[in-house]
Amino acid sequence: LEQQKQQMIQVHELASKFYHYLLLETEHGQESLRYLIDRGFTRELIETFYIGYAPSAWDTLKNFLVKRGFAIEILEKAGLIIQSDEGNYYDRFRNRVMFPIFDAHGRVIAFGGRVLDQSLPKYLNSPETLIFNKSKTLYNLHLAKKQIRKKRQAILLEGYVDTIAVWNAGVEQGIATLGTSLTEEHAKILRRDADEVVISYDSDSAGQLAIFRAIDTLQEVGCQIKIVQMPKGLDPDDYIRKFGAESFKQEILGNTVTATAFKIQYIRKDYNLNVESDRMKYLTHAIDIIADLTHAIEREHYLKGLADEFQLSFDSLKNDLQLIYYEKR
Ligand code: UTP
Ligand code: MN
Ligand code: MN
Ligand code: MN
Ligand code: MN
Repeated sequence: LEQQKQQMIQVHELASKFYHYLLLETEHGQESLRYLIDRGFTRELIETFYIGYAPSAWDTLKNFLVKRGFAIEILEKAGLIIQSDEGNYYDRFRNRVMFPIFDAHGRVIAFGGRVLDQSLPKYLNSPETLIFNKSKTLYNLHLAKKQIRKKRQAILLEGYVDTIAVWNAGVEQGIATLGTSLTEEHAKILRRDADEVVISYDSDSAGQLAIFRAIDTLQEVGCQIKIVQMPKGLDPDDYIRKFGAESFKQEILGNTVTATAFKIQYIRKDYNLNVESDRMKYLTHAIDIIADLTHAIEREHYLKGLADEFQLSFDSLKNDLQLIYYEKR
């Protein structure tokens, strides 16, 4: 098994070099290179993140690696080659921009591949293998670790491109999960180096739901949490291209909300606040969230916010809070 793992790592090392070479040095890679440059990727970024290109033929990588002496079974187990029902082997990644996924030591253990057009799936990731466990892998951790440790803070992003865009903006503590939600294992890994996690997901509903879930996972391991407020329709990469790195740092990273403020806001979509009975249900739900806070000062702060907004007496809200609060303990 150890030997298989070693071979799989060697295969990924070689495959990443091959894809990277094809992107930068061959005719095959030109369309991808243009795509990347149009999206604002510099040469330096392409090098740092070792981006590559998987050609459209069915067997480019397979032939290359077999010629280098690797057994087809290893290539299949590594997730790079797929066996069809008829028994033929073919490349998993075809005509995609390739993002190598590194482990914490900087070894390539998997890939994420993006299409160049609107076809689906937009991103194809390596399957789980002996060397790639999605629920334990964070994209860019090998490079971000230094700043995460120094700042005791990590910035959690949705994917490859956002992580790279934020890095290019000079914020080097960005990491991402890989097409999965944040797991308890991810959270524990982050907790080793960071006291605080800034969640910077997309502003769409999938992103907002993912924030809601990540909050609990991160709080369970004892991380402080901040949440960015991204304008409608944008993700961090879109924002930086539209408004620039400085604006991202000032307006977005400098304007985060707390987990509680986020939750109180997030649950609103489930209620019609124009209807009195719904409004009351919403308030009860919000108070329930506030009752989870340990510190009285914090509880009073959010309660006051609700009282002001809904023009209710602070004392009546506080009575309700106290009922829920004592029920919970
Ligand atoms: P998004 O759909 O937000 O993509 O998915 P993106 O990162 O903004 O991509 P661009 O800007 O269109 O290139 C966020 C992340 O979810 C994973 C990827 O890791 C992606 O970066 N994902 C998304 C998948 O694994 N598969 C998919 O089909 C889509
Ligand atoms: Mn190079
Ligand atoms: Mn998204
Ligand atoms: Mn996105
Ligand atoms: Mn994007």
